[in-house]
Amino acid sequence: HHRRSVPTGDAQVISLHPATEPEPGMPLLRKRRDELAAHVAEGRMDAVRRQHSLGKFTARERLALLLDDDSFTEIEPYRRHQARGLGLEDNRPYTDGVVAGSGTIDGRRVFVYAQDFTVFGGSLGEAHAAKIHKVLDLAVATGSPVIALNDSGGARIQEGVMALNGYGGIFRRQVEASGVIPQISVILGPCAGGAAYSPALADFTFMVRDTGWMFLTGPDVVEAVTGRRVSHDELGGADTHGRHSGVATVVHDDEESCLADVRYLVSLLPRNYLEQPPATRETGATADWRPRLAELVPAEPNRPYDMRDVFTEIADDGEFFALHEAWAPNVLCALARIDGRVVGLVGNQPCVLAGVLDGPASQKAARFVRFCDAFGIPLVTLVDVPGFLPGVDEERSGIIRQGAQLLHAYCEATVPRIQVILRKAYGGAYIVMDSRSIGCDLSLAWPTNQIAVMGAEGAVNVLFRRELAAAPDPAALRARLVAEYVAEYLNPQYAAERGLVDDVIDPADTRAAIARGLAMLQDKRKPGPQRKHGNHPV
Ligand code: HXC
Repeated sequence: HHRRSVPTGDAQVISLHPATEPEPGMPLLRKRRDELAAHVAEGRMDAVRRQHSLGKFTARERLALLLDDDSFTEIEPYRRHQARGLGLEDNRPYTDGVVAGSGTIDGRRVFVYAQDFTVFGGSLGEAHAAKIHKVLDLAVATGSPVIALNDSGGARIQEGVMALNGYGGIFRRQVEASGVIPQISVILGPCAGGAAYSPALADFTFMVRDTGWMFLTGPDVVEAVTGRRVSHDELGGADTHGRHSGVATVVHDDEESCLADVRYLVSLLPRNYLEQPPATRETGATADWRPRLAELVPAEPNRPYDMRDVFTEIADDGEFFALHEAWAPNVLCALARIDGRVVGLVGNQPCVLAGVLDGPASQKAARFVRFCDAFGIPLVTLVDVPGFLPGVDEERSGIIRQGAQLLHAYCEATVPRIQVILRKAYGGAYIVMDSRSIGCDLSLAWPTNQIAVMGAEGAVNVLFRRELAAAPDPAALRARLVAEYVAEYLNPQYAAERGLVDDVIDPADTRAAIARGLAMLQDKRKPGPQRKHGNHPV
């Protein structure tokens, strides 16, 4: 298994108030404290039991699983709404349905909020939103990642447009924080309507199967409008978003493994765009030889193999954090360490659709490349690509637009960029996969590989159509022409002699060559052009 398992310990309820007794002589303080604690717990036991019976933890239990022991500092536990109408004035629970504050993960500060479904169904009103705004503001001010644990019925209906206004304030802050601090959203319950745009604006969205849902309109509305009955899961469950829509970055079976994985992800991220991810070892190029790489990748250009095995071989301790594993699996995107440094690995996956680039794969890789670039994470692109997927459906769904997103993302990336061509790189897909022409800093190629405009058969058919038609023995002529084309063009030498490949390396030296490249490029600085911003083909 490629994931590091993170010990989590048992889920414990974090008590709002420490068990230690107040100083003697402070009876008033003690009385007030007890009153407040009683108020917070009041009448919620049924709701807590219901939450547990659904296999869900409470907000505080989730924070205990996510954060280092005893590290949570809560803000505004006594905040409550000041709203009127529909009986709200008689129902003013503390926290207002969201537990907010800050804690640490592996000793590194993060900001968090956890919606509490046991209070107003976790729905978001003005006070609830104001607490989230404060968490986002403090996260930016202190340069800390922010993690949202979502479990909510959405806009609090009784608070009307003030609830919508609260959402808008979250979205605006998230967009302003984009590229400044990492944003992680975890879906542990319903997340409906416009509320789903908060996770969609985050850098990473985790979902738990069977209990987490995201949709703009629920099953009832879908049935009323379209006449189609659909289950919660089919409409917006973790697999819908992890496999089909690409809205979920990571999918888990249960909350404990999900929150443990969030901890692992945080361990790979910088706290903000000015810092670096924690290095796990003294960096300094290791000369470590990996002969297995040559066996993993078959020499025949069309034989499938699993690029994940290559990632395992290249990454420190064989560990990598794969994003969007089930969506667009023909491209792989993962965070990993090489020689102690965190890198973003992008690789074509020859065992799915022969590793072609299609629309979703382009979008998946584009978003990943932009994340890595925003947070100073070097990019290592492992190329083995036959081309872009041809077809009517692809053209109609905009593969040109989607491929342009990937192209744009790579072209504007200023982090260290290393391209490794393992086996084949053809045509437009070769250019897009971080070729020299679009700005990679270092291009490495295995000696056996093929970099060309197109494959030999296709090229010979285009160039020698008339000669082949007129030939007495077309098969023999074709074989000779194909052999000539292969010898002349389908090798890294042609590109290396022209400076498009920096070095032709032994496959076993790949990991060490990447490590040397990362060391060489570590101080890379490249200011972007002066302008307001580019017009990324979204
Ligand atoms: C106020 C809400 C609420 C809401 C749930 N509750 N959603 N209160 N506003 N939006 C309350 C319920 O009244 C109930 O209170 C408690 O939370 C638990 O809810 P249940 O319905 O008993 O739970 P469950 O059966 O698990 O169903 C959960 C649910 C359902 C699927 C989320 O509650 C639901 O459909 N809620 C409405 C969802 C919705 O349409 N929201 C608005 C979306 S539009 P009691 O007192 O009985 O315990 C939106 C726009 C955002 O969010 C726009 C941003 C731009």
